[in-house]
Amino acid sequence: MVRIRTANASDVEGLSIYFTGLSATTRNKRFMGARADVALLAAECIAKVSHPNHFTLLAELRQEEGPSTIIGETRYAYDAAARHGDFAISVADVFQRTGVGLQMVTAMERRASDLGHEMIAAETARTNAEMRGLAKKAGFADTGLGDWQSIHFAKRLSR
Ligand SMILES: CC(C)(COP(=O)(O)OP(=O)(O)OC[C@H]1O[C@@H](n2cnc3c(N)ncnc32)[C@H](O)[C@@H]1OP(=O)(O)O)[C@@H](O)C(=O)NCCC(=O)NCCS
Repeated sequence: MVRIRTANASDVEGLSIYFTGLSATTRNKRFMGARADVALLAAECIAKVSHPNHFTLLAELRQEEGPSTIIGETRYAYDAAARHGDFAISVADVFQRTGVGLQMVTAMERRASDLGHEMIAAETARTNAEMRGLAKKAGFADTGLGDWQSIHFAKRLSR
């Protein structure tokens, strides 16, 4: 069973293990470049969770016995100047294309809407077919603000 929940300070180690387990390709796509400092990345994802306009969602695989395993994460931050939320997302390689990404995006939208945010945006490499596919399926549209390398898309949240 997959459960989506908000990350908290006790998740740094679990998130670090999760980032370590990602393939280099998935990790590079998630962080739009090579990053090996997974402990720092995990700490960054958790650092602002007490900020009212930032949150990190975790997708966890719950087993009947034993601890839950993180199989996905979404980091959300509200940009007050641009008046929209930004997000970045990843799903563990073996669980990709099983609906976990869409589940997290849906949960993120609900949470952002509850915070009173009206728009969510994100950016990804033009070559990132899976992120482009996920964004399209979730109802995001190309804003035209990208460049030859990246695509920028956004979605207005209904309240
Ligand atoms: C992008 C990512 C998070 C998608 O998560 P996911 O759990 O695999 O996505 P879902 O299973 O929920 O798929 C939802 C839709 O996205 C699209 N999609 C997902 N993977 C795709 C792929 N490889 N090619 C094309 N479309 C794809 C499809 O429309 C899919 O719906 P469908 O399966 O009914 O056709 C995942 O592929 C990932 O972690 N990629 C590496 C990290 C990354 O690129 N992050 C984005 C930059 S922040």
